[in-house]
Amino acid sequence: MNKIGIFFGTDSGTTRLMAKKMAKLLGDAAAKPVNVNRSTAEDLLQYDALILGTPSYGVNQLPGKSTKVEDGCWEEFMPQLQGADLSGKTIALYGTGDQEKYPDRFAHSLIHLYDWCMAGGAEVVGQWATDGYEFEHSPSVVDGKFVGLVLDERSQSGLTGERLAAWIALVKPALQAKLTG
Ligand SMILES: Cc1cc2nc3c(=O)[nH]c(=O)nc-3n(C[C@H](O)[C@H](O)[C@H](O)COP(=O)(O)O)c2cc1C
Repeated sequence: MNKIGIFFGTDSGTTRLMAKKMAKLLGDAAAKPVNVNRSTAEDLLQYDALILGTPSYGVNQLPGKSTKVEDGCWEEFMPQLQGADLSGKTIALYGTGDQEKYPDRFAHSLIHLYDWCMAGGAEVVGQWATDGYEFEHSPSVVDGKFVGLVLDERSQSGLTGERLAAWIALVKPALQAKLTG
């Protein structure tokens, strides 16, 4: 596939909006972002370069119907993807959350996308420093960094534009290296 696939889950639209902003920054290199509640495993797995995004709802889980995302989200989609061979794929992850209201589990759902990538043998790029965020705990921090970009439109929306631009500049070369033709 000669595009970067962007797949997101969302309830109130923030994670979709972030996906759209990323696609705009990537220009022709990116396919149109797709909501995972309208996607099949084949849709996603056709890409060798991917950006995957999730909001955080619930506790220690991916969002979905059990966290009151009525239209479905990663919780419903992920079973289709269990056991997928992701070797040869390069994947960049992002999460949205609210560090002021949920400082003890900030952007926690992101770690589940990361665990799935690692189990499938993908190369995960785009780890992101925790500098500039204020929270107590996030399971999505591994070896001192977030496993992907974390965006907080509730408490730090003024920083989103620069974070997005810097992160896309960071991951674009690695993702583009996977594109064919
Ligand atoms: C009921 C509820 C629970 C939430 N739980 C968390 C949480 O545990 N951790 C966190 O970082 N953010 C949490 N958030 C914040 C959302 O993840 C954040 O607003 C996100 O941007 C929403 O994305 P969406 O608009 O794509 O659904 C919660 C928000 C709501 C309304």
